[in-house]
Amino acid sequence: MKDSPIGVGLIGTGRISDLHVIEYLNNPATRIRMLCDADPGAAQRKAHDWGIGEVKITDDLQELLQNPDIDLVEILLPHDLHLAAALAAMDAGKAISLQKPMCPTLEEADRLVEAVETYDRPFKVFENFLFHPPVARARQLIAQNAIGEPQSIRIKSNPGTSRTGWKVSASALEWRQQRSRSGGGPLVFDDGHHKFALAWGFMGNPREVHAFIGRVQRKDGAWYDAQSMISFRFPGNRVGNLEIVYSPELEIVTPYYAQDDRVEITGTKGVIWINCGHGHLAGAVPLVLFRDGGLTEFRDMNVSWEQSFVHSTRHYINVLKNGGQPVLQAYEARQILRFSSAAEQSALENRSIEVESG
Ligand SMILES: NC(=O)c1ccc[n+]([C@@H]2O[C@H](COP(=O)([O-])OP(=O)(O)OC[C@H]3O[C@@H](n4cnc5c(N)ncnc54)[C@H](O)[C@@H]3O)[C@@H](O)[C@H]2O)c1
Repeated sequence: MKDSPIGVGLIGTGRISDLHVIEYLNNPATRIRMLCDADPGAAQRKAHDWGIGEVKITDDLQELLQNPDIDLVEILLPHDLHLAAALAAMDAGKAISLQKPMCPTLEEADRLVEAVETYDRPFKVFENFLFHPPVARARQLIAQNAIGEPQSIRIKSNPGTSRTGWKVSASALEWRQQRSRSGGGPLVFDDGHHKFALAWGFMGNPREVHAFIGRVQRKDGAWYDAQSMISFRFPGNRVGNLEIVYSPELEIVTPYYAQDDRVEITGTKGVIWINCGHGHLAGAVPLVLFRDGGLTEFRDMNVSWEQSFVHSTRHYINVLKNGGQPVLQAYEARQILRFSSAAEQSALENRSIEVESG
């Protein structure tokens, strides 16, 4: 890898771009060189807020992709634009970090996986929850046999309300309410990607998925696919579930989305609780381990949600500099997409869905 900083181009400078730029701005190995957004005025305002007001701005994807100063592109677009942008970035020979979910449909995901198979640059599907500090620590503990063999995972996804949470633009909500653009429901398919990634990361690929998916109107009039309950069976008589509950009056302490997440993993000889995700239910200990009759609390980590982005981005920069495989690889992201689409299919067809392995 050359010694000059890795030139970064952002494609899409909407809500989530604020968390992607943190590591690129702070890491001496990277320099943000250009921003592309359909709304260049909004991109310019972001550049100013990020302290890089002089950076090049365009609304033309090809102009960014043809810029030889850009080595790595971060694709942060609505889901229906992911495939075309990723294929165009491959044509231009860039290293690619594509936000989750990789595509709105499995058919598009298959096209992308096939294209990536013969691509010689690192291709990452950006999934941050696996890098959230309490999640990463839990994975370490489990790898060290802290709870024995994991037998079950319970994930609670809990949107509420927040006086401190950030504003989400009407346009960011609008495309998510259209299945043709997003690919599925906001909590099961879109945000759910993170929860299925957690289940996949801790337990592997499921064999069978069964779901009830509800529908509830939010206070602002938008629709949520809650209250929902999704059960999984993993090979080896192991199980799990994802429960999605909208609590309209639940005050969540967060600078980000008005939502929190909690995870419990039960092993053959111990239990781990991860007590924070997007937000933080005030006072909860971030990570707790029970084994051998005793409880250990882990508080020595920064659990603010942007850290999951910082660590995921840092990991990719390290892959570019030092080699190795990015997390997630395209075929892994396709497995997670299959997991979440099986949940939607199950609720629609009112039956369990067998998930093929691989
Ligand atoms: N990892 C996470 O926790 C997380 C959280 C939020 C969003 N996301 C993902 O990030 C991606 C973007 O989500 P968001 O919330 O920032 O959406 P957003 O709607 O806020 O931003 C999308 C941006 O893309 C721009 N855009 C639309 N069409 C374009 C085009 N043809 N060319 C250039 N720019 C175009 C829009 O102007 C907008 O600025 C999605 O894949 C979403 O699932 C991930």
